[in-house]
Amino acid sequence: MSIPTPHITAKEGDFAKTVLMPGDPLRSKFIAENFLENATLVNNVRGVQGYTGYYKGKRVSVMASGMGQPAIGIYSYELFNFYGVESIIRVGSCGSFDPDLHIRDIIIAMGACTNGNYAMQYRLPGTFCPIADFSLVRRAADECEKLGLNYKVGNIFSSDTFYDDANSGLEWAKMGVLGVEMESAALYCNAARAKKKALCICTVSDSLVAPEITTAEERQNSFTSMMKVALEIAEA
Ligand code: HPA
Repeated sequence: MSIPTPHITAKEGDFAKTVLMPGDPLRSKFIAENFLENATLVNNVRGVQGYTGYYKGKRVSVMASGMGQPAIGIYSYELFNFYGVESIIRVGSCGSFDPDLHIRDIIIAMGACTNGNYAMQYRLPGTFCPIADFSLVRRAADECEKLGLNYKVGNIFSSDTFYDDANSGLEWAKMGVLGVEMESAALYCNAARAKKKALCICTVSDSLVAPEITTAEERQNSFTSMMKVALEIAEA
């Protein structure tokens, strides 16, 4: 296959080496408008807005993934394999399983457990552990320290169900998994297969162990610290 791809109409070279990837297309626009200079829209297929601009002189892109592993599976695959993108940093939201992680705190997802079967396609004779790129994990943790943010590095659970009939997410909490979202495992699989780099940084938007929530508007607008971490560690 070549570019344009079925889901991205950008031209060759339109994307920077690093793409920040929020789930929400409106958040992609928010990042471009508030953090990037000279941002230009490079993709808008299905309203999945992608922009390329500059952060402190560094060329960076941002494009939404949509929700769930099949969606991020498509966009990250096409960016890694057809657009020459080297690193994708997911900037998402997650539910917390950890009583010490409150809303607006940060999880750096070193590993991603899942109840999905995205990795089945590789026909491996065992279980694959989707993990982040270590240099990105280390730099993200250093940046969180520098900014004085409350964060933890560890496992996240990429669930295929938001509304889970068995409420089984909390079983993962017993294994020390820090929180739940819906995308990282597929992103890490694609990065591994393409020999590229990926990281997921999530801001806690709700807690499954203590009753705290944020509104959709807050989720869209208030994750400035996480975006700064991602932009600072992005490689041009
Ligand atoms: N479940 C799954 N994904 C999420 C959640 C959640 O509770 N919060 C933010 N993303």
